[in-house]
Amino acid sequence: MPYFVSPKILFGKGILKRLDAEIKGRGKKALLMTDKNMAPQSAQLAEVIQGAGYEVMVWDQAEQEPSIDGAAAGKEALVRFQPQMVTAFGGGSVIDTAKAAWILYARPDIEVQQIGKEVSPKSRLNLREKAFFLAVPTTSGTGSECTWAVVLTDKAKNRKIAFANNEIVPDLALLAPEFTVGMPPGLTASTGMDVLGHAFDGFTARQQTDFSDGLCLQAMKMAFSWLPKAVKDGGDMVAREKMQNAAAIAGMGFGNSNTSLSHALAHSLGVTFHISHGRSVGLALIYSLDYITANPHFENTPDPKEKLASSARFVGINNASDQEAIKNLIQKIKFLMEEIGEPLSLKEAGVSPNQFEANLDDLVTRASKDVNMYSTPCECQGEKLKDLFCRMWVGY
Ligand SMILES: [Fe+2]
Repeated sequence: MPYFVSPKILFGKGILKRLDAEIKGRGKKALLMTDKNMAPQSAQLAEVIQGAGYEVMVWDQAEQEPSIDGAAAGKEALVRFQPQMVTAFGGGSVIDTAKAAWILYARPDIEVQQIGKEVSPKSRLNLREKAFFLAVPTTSGTGSECTWAVVLTDKAKNRKIAFANNEIVPDLALLAPEFTVGMPPGLTASTGMDVLGHAFDGFTARQQTDFSDGLCLQAMKMAFSWLPKAVKDGGDMVAREKMQNAAAIAGMGFGNSNTSLSHALAHSLGVTFHISHGRSVGLALIYSLDYITANPHFENTPDPKEKLASSARFVGINNASDQEAIKNLIQKIKFLMEEIGEPLSLKEAGVSPNQFEANLDDLVTRASKDVNMYSTPCECQGEKLKDLFCRMWVGY
């Protein structure tokens, strides 16, 4: 991509007190969109927004998996309340639901069922005529607070739809690590694997740029260093802050490049076996990296072997040969996953042989059609894709 987009980011412990100055005078009403789990914790944020002169209404109906139906329900709440600020408070599911609802609020001419078709990188949306968007993440994973993309589930068709446009990048992202302290170790671990997936996918995607590369590398290094600490001690505020920053940095990395193979596989796993997004990405990551270095890459695409060898060295692996460095990089991810208790195979994730067999063709079909295949640096279809899923089931 020949451009770079980012929200204004406020970050660090105690940052909530700086929000007032950013939003004061920009509107009179704010809809705070969240889910039932996070609603009790939104009171502190609501108080700060009220202090900046806004009437605040809380909408807590966001679902665990952001869906077309959830976006439609969010839009209805926005239309009823008519805010000038949309605030998303929660994990990636809440932020994506709120982003989609915001689009539908700004553009009532777009039918919810058509949102994936109507919103594309080239659309002119004029999203800010009614409201601006504040994202306050409470997990450290999706990076949605910094990206131009939305992923929703179409429950009726049992598939994921993804769409992107520059205007969808939030105006403000508030990274207050205090809001992530409540995440249990399992959620910290799986969302952290999403960060690593974004960093590696964004670094090896066909659309990578000099700008995205630097961010992806930094996010990798931070996740390797800080994720085990955040999982081990959720009260470690330095680890929480570093992981929250890493998630946003990876978000800007892949948001200005693209996600690729691990996400194509993960979306299929998520829809088929209802494995959480972060865990699905973690499961797919080592197999995808192995695959893109073992198969010929497309022309005019950076060589994944060179890229991964350079990232291995950046995270402290100093083998003489690129091949050894890549092997040790994949081992490093595997060790990290073992340390934080994430499954390394579909078998370990609880998928039975019968379930796997019965769903293998669907897994392949869904992944082959996933938009992330277009950013994957090499061909991955048919029997090769099937073999990849079979390897993921058995394990490394
Ligand atoms: Fe992701």
